[in-house]
Amino acid sequence: MLKKIHVRDVRSGMFIHEICGSWMDHPFWKKAFLLSANEELNTLKTCGIQEVWIDTEKGLDIESEAVLSTPAEANKKVETELSKIAEVSQGESHLPIHEELERARKLQAKSKKAVTSMFQEARMGNAIKVNEAEPLVDRINESITRNPEAFLNLARLKTKDDYTYMHSIAVCALMIALGKQLGLTGSELKNAGLAGLLHDVGKMLIPDEVLNKPGKLTDEEFEIIKQHPLKSWEILHGSPDVTDVILDVCLHHHERVDGTGYPERLSGKPLSLYARMGAVCDVYDALTSNRCYKNGWEPAETIRKMAEWREGHFDERVFQAFVKTIGIYPSGTLVRLKSGRLAIVMEQSDKSLLTPIVKVFFSTKSNEPIMPEMLNLSRSQESIASAEDPAQWGFDLKQLTGF
Ligand SMILES: [Fe+2]
Ligand SMILES: [Fe+2]
Repeated sequence: MLKKIHVRDVRSGMFIHEICGSWMDHPFWKKAFLLSANEELNTLKTCGIQEVWIDTEKGLDIESEAVLSTPAEANKKVETELSKIAEVSQGESHLPIHEELERARKLQAKSKKAVTSMFQEARMGNAIKVNEAEPLVDRINESITRNPEAFLNLARLKTKDDYTYMHSIAVCALMIALGKQLGLTGSELKNAGLAGLLHDVGKMLIPDEVLNKPGKLTDEEFEIIKQHPLKSWEILHGSPDVTDVILDVCLHHHERVDGTGYPERLSGKPLSLYARMGAVCDVYDALTSNRCYKNGWEPAETIRKMAEWREGHFDERVFQAFVKTIGIYPSGTLVRLKSGRLAIVMEQSDKSLLTPIVKVFFSTKSNEPIMPEMLNLSRSQESIASAEDPAQWGFDLKQLTGF
């Protein structure tokens, strides 16, 4: 049985089913594991994580009655929270995603080249010319304005070797999309994008064997990783065109609103809007990306997880705006409808994030494909029952969506 408990009630012999938090906040790389060593218990209790899910069939149960939540309760809570955010605010209208994909793909390739060479300069100890990145941020902003999902979808695809570069590009695009949702314009928006692009440049100074270590990090290694925000700040603070916003996001994107983040344990007023935006965008991209040691989660799954443990972690208003930016069922999500049919989300509708336009293509009752059909759920009796893991079904979603 799964139970969510507070980290102070964890003891050796429990089976940790899932840690409630971003995996950048702790040195454990495994999703689920039996907590056997005292040293692991200590790390878990001191790394800033508040809650975990334990599986009482695979390990020890909790002694007290201090269970925080069952899966059904947690699910219901997330459901309620997300439906409160679901209403779509009438913003600017977008091009359909397939009309932007090709352009977005080219821009992505160009961005990767530019960011790689910029970050290599930093690795060699050369100054970063911030103003040279401005045209790139402008192009990404234009693509996001035409259709936010095209560029963001592509930005999730990463390999082990290009992870830091592609992550920087993804966080740049997410910062712009989120900034627009929050009403930022002009130089504010450009600064948000630049900050996203450069926030992790300090990772260039972290040894590769620590940064990309496939196993659990030692406490010392984790401390080394935690130095990267300060290193980003050090690389950039002497650059002629750097702005306060960029430096702020570099230094503070791993802070948490409850003051348990790093490096300065900021909370309240000193934690700026941009740093709060950086924290949400950074975690989302890390969780949705494939790494050498784990597969990323699907966007819909990630939004649910973040909603589940957002308290203390993220700024409430920023998180809500982020959900509106990404969607609750982003395009490309595999969903099960109440009728038992499977469908793929093609586009968002203009009413609610819970009722996108989907392509129905499979019946789970007869277990066979059905004639594909487009359905706008905002004008249909049909509705979404759950998001599904495409890996478990083995469908080639790309072929179905074209993106
Ligand atoms: Fe970071
Ligand atoms: Fe990051």
